Amino acid sequence: MNEHVQGAGGAPLFNPLSPDFIRDPYPHYDRLRTIDPVHVTPFGQFVASRHADVTLVMRDKRFGKDFVERSRRRYSDKIMDEPVFRSMSHWMLQADPPDHTRLRGLVVKAFTARRVEDMRPRIQEIVDQAIDAVIDRGHMDLIEDFAFRLPVTIICEMLGIPEDHREVFYKSSRDGGRLLDPVPLSAEEIKKGNEGNLMAQMYFQQLFELRRRNPGNDLTTQLVQAEEDGNKLTNEELTANIILLFGAGHETTVNLIGNGLLALHRNPDQLALLKARPELMEGAIEEFLRYDSSVQMTGRVALEDIDDLGGKRIPKGETVLCLLGSANRDPAVYPDRPDRLDVTRQNVKPLSFGGGIHFCLGAQLARIEAEIAIATLLRRLPDLRIDDVENPEWRPTFVLRGLKRLPASW
Ligand code: HEM
Repeated sequence: MNEHVQGAGGAPLFNPLSPDFIRDPYPHYDRLRTIDPVHVTPFGQFVASRHADVTLVMRDKRFGKDFVERSRRRYSDKIMDEPVFRSMSHWMLQADPPDHTRLRGLVVKAFTARRVEDMRPRIQEIVDQAIDAVIDRGHMDLIEDFAFRLPVTIICEMLGIPEDHREVFYKSSRDGGRLLDPVPLSAEEIKKGNEGNLMAQMYFQQLFELRRRNPGNDLTTQLVQAEEDGNKLTNEELTANIILLFGAGHETTVNLIGNGLLALHRNPDQLALLKARPELMEGAIEEFLRYDSSVQMTGRVALEDIDDLGGKRIPKGETVLCLLGSANRDPAVYPDRPDRLDVTRQNVKPLSFGGGIHFCLGAQLARIEAEIAIATLLRRLPDLRIDDVENPEWRPTFVLRGLKRLPASW
């Protein structure tokens, strides 16, 4: 095994759940990129922090997901008896070809640029309703009252979840994020994961029944029909991927809107510029994705021995964590002050949506939701101020980076 390079004073270089890291991971990434760009953690995972290595690992066919073996190695052979791990093993996000190709192929049409462009008027309507509901109050929580409602409503509509079933999703606790973090789960966390998974399974089985009896123009109907159609996907795969779409489709977008609004209010010159020149918004969304990505990491497993990744040998079966948030601030790619928010920056190509065959299915949808949400907020509430831009409360998860709440007044 490789040596464990440590930071100043013997502190671990990569301790992603420490409060300091959660509050501001970027100085930690700087140290990783400079001192030990392919770092080995105490759990034996390799951590890639430079743009070039992260890009290569996500795109190179010598790397894959290998979810079942990877989980067994990390926990024990019994881990696949845990319902939440079984369910995740069927996610397209964790699958390798040919299963990945088959599962992704069943839903990809719903996410084409054209289909998503057609959703603009509906997205605008939902954003306007959220603002109408609070405008007379003079204050709101930008997360709960604003950022959260849009992606949840959109994904519910895409999945054909009837309106009178949705209240529970608006109120849900959003605590499933720990499942993605690169630090093993405790028995208690696995138990909670199983409970959440069971609740979701019970709900979605009811929805499948409803859509079998009463088909609609939605993704659930499409997948239920594919299941009935023979051997396109199993019932377990159907359930797991609907749960994935539901989760992937909202938490990440809520956080893009929340992190983007925080970044803007911490940089008043950029906020003023964007208000004066709304045509900059499309580029600004790319810059928000780069500057403080709502997904900080993805991972791959070496499917064969890799001789050299940033000077390290990666044996077959070992995991490489790809630090997207770090790659996005690599001065090798962004030489002009990467730690600065600049909504006019040119050639911004954030890795926040991953890469290779798993490149985010919802990328275009998320961009348009964020663009309409932030543009509308700046236009309709131009005097909005965030109550405490210095010390906002971050959620305790690392991979999904976002705020618990963001109170604001106008
Ligand atoms: C700002 C918002 C979002 C971010 C930052 C984000 C980020 C990501 C990342 C990093 C991956 C993994 C890529 C990899 O391993 O290479 C991914 C995959 C995925 N995302 Fe997103 N996502 C966002 C929004 C959405 C939305 C709105 C949806 C759906 C409605 C969605 C659905 C998915 C799915 C299904 C996958 C798995 C794709 C595959 O494995 O082929 N995401 N996303």
